[in-house]
Amino acid sequence: MELPFAESWKIKMVEPIRKSTRQEREVWIKEACYNLFQLPAEQVYIDLITDSGTGAMSDRQWAAMMMGDESYAGASSFFNLKKMISSLTGFDYIIPTHQGRAAENVLFSYLIKEGDIIPGNSHFDTTKGHIEGRRAFALDCTVDEAKDTQLELPFKGNVSIPKLEKALEEHHERVPFIIVTITNNTAGGQPVSLQNLKEVREVANRYKKPVLFDSARFAENAYFIKTRETGYADKSIKEITREMFSYADGMTMSAKKDGIVNMGGFIATRLEEWYEGAKGFCIQYEGYLTYGGMNGRDMNALAVGLDENTEFDNLETRIKQVQYLAEQLDAFNIPYQRPAGGHAIFVDALKILTNVPKEEFPAQTLAIELYLEAGIRGCEIGYILADRDPTTHENRFGGLDLLRLAIPRRVYTNNHMDVIAVALKNVYDRRENIQRGVKITWEAPLMRHFTVKLEPAK
Ligand code: F0G
Repeated sequence: MELPFAESWKIKMVEPIRKSTRQEREVWIKEACYNLFQLPAEQVYIDLITDSGTGAMSDRQWAAMMMGDESYAGASSFFNLKKMISSLTGFDYIIPTHQGRAAENVLFSYLIKEGDIIPGNSHFDTTKGHIEGRRAFALDCTVDEAKDTQLELPFKGNVSIPKLEKALEEHHERVPFIIVTITNNTAGGQPVSLQNLKEVREVANRYKKPVLFDSARFAENAYFIKTRETGYADKSIKEITREMFSYADGMTMSAKKDGIVNMGGFIATRLEEWYEGAKGFCIQYEGYLTYGGMNGRDMNALAVGLDENTEFDNLETRIKQVQYLAEQLDAFNIPYQRPAGGHAIFVDALKILTNVPKEEFPAQTLAIELYLEAGIRGCEIGYILADRDPTTHENRFGGLDLLRLAIPRRVYTNNHMDVIAVALKNVYDRRENIQRGVKITWEAPLMRHFTVKLEPAK
């Protein structure tokens, strides 16, 4: 008999979590103005709001923290980190930042000016925020297949090459660079193929434009290339990673995801010009160049985290857990963005809460229902997160309205996945009775989902 699959690690430290009653949760969600970001974490049983900064570090990472060099300038921890990033990506210029959006802020301060257009595949919300905040435009060129959650395709995160070519043909003098997000978080944690990265590079070369990878989940992307793309089955994750980045000029990184640290990020590039242009902004916003926004100990832990998470076994354990949850949902016929993404399951709220009008935010309503059901905290990746159109100020109802169940790395077991699946099934079974959603009582002009205040629609 073939041995079943099991995790590539064992557990050395645990943290208790606490269940609550539905009655308690009804009070708490009201106090939080029906915004799950506003809930104190103690009021959550299983926390799937993000996979960002929520992973469990390994014993090797904790050991590396003890060796952190906290020198203001020239710390050995910086050089440890630089060496690891350069070996994985081929990029020699490194700027550490406190997280991914800080890397965006520093680099975009140099690269983006008012009126620019930045084409890419489903820019993440902070990326869009940093573009639109500079009165520039984020132009989404994701393949159309990503919008059909039931299509089973290996690389639904891809950039549509015709859309990209059209954008460059029409606006090339306004395009400072092209951005590719690997994996494509907003489209459901869907990967981008190496073939697609190569094609983006070819188009970019024709128009003499640089290419930036938003690389938060680059290792998961490499796993999907290895397991799904022809010709890569026998290559190591590190070899694939190196090839992926050979098609980019630089990267912004939220190290809180595939770096498996609780805080951190960086810019890495092969272009001296980008480094020279951005470094002053690093000093202004983050810190001196050899620590930017990070501690020595965190840079050390990140160097080890990047090494560990570009090994196949670690990635396989992670992605198979997400796929395990997907199989449980399949058994209950619950629709989600197919195939299961790298870091999360994106439940298709529009296909479940068919009685809730889009003006009452079905995915947010589903997130609230799941919390009330079992104390599980997911995250709306839908109409609230999409913000308003900067010119018309209308809600953007054009895209998907999803409930993201993001799975932290090395944190929960498959027993937790079973609880999540059954809780969602219970909501699914009473979906017909859920008739009303929520309405906004207060919202911020940009990135409103973090602070939005809601109340039940009447
Ligand atoms: N790019 C992508 C693709 C992301 O998913 C994120 C963060 C960022 C950039 C910004 O990085 O949080 O370190 O400043 N995503 C988190 C999430 C917050 O929940 O998906 P950050």
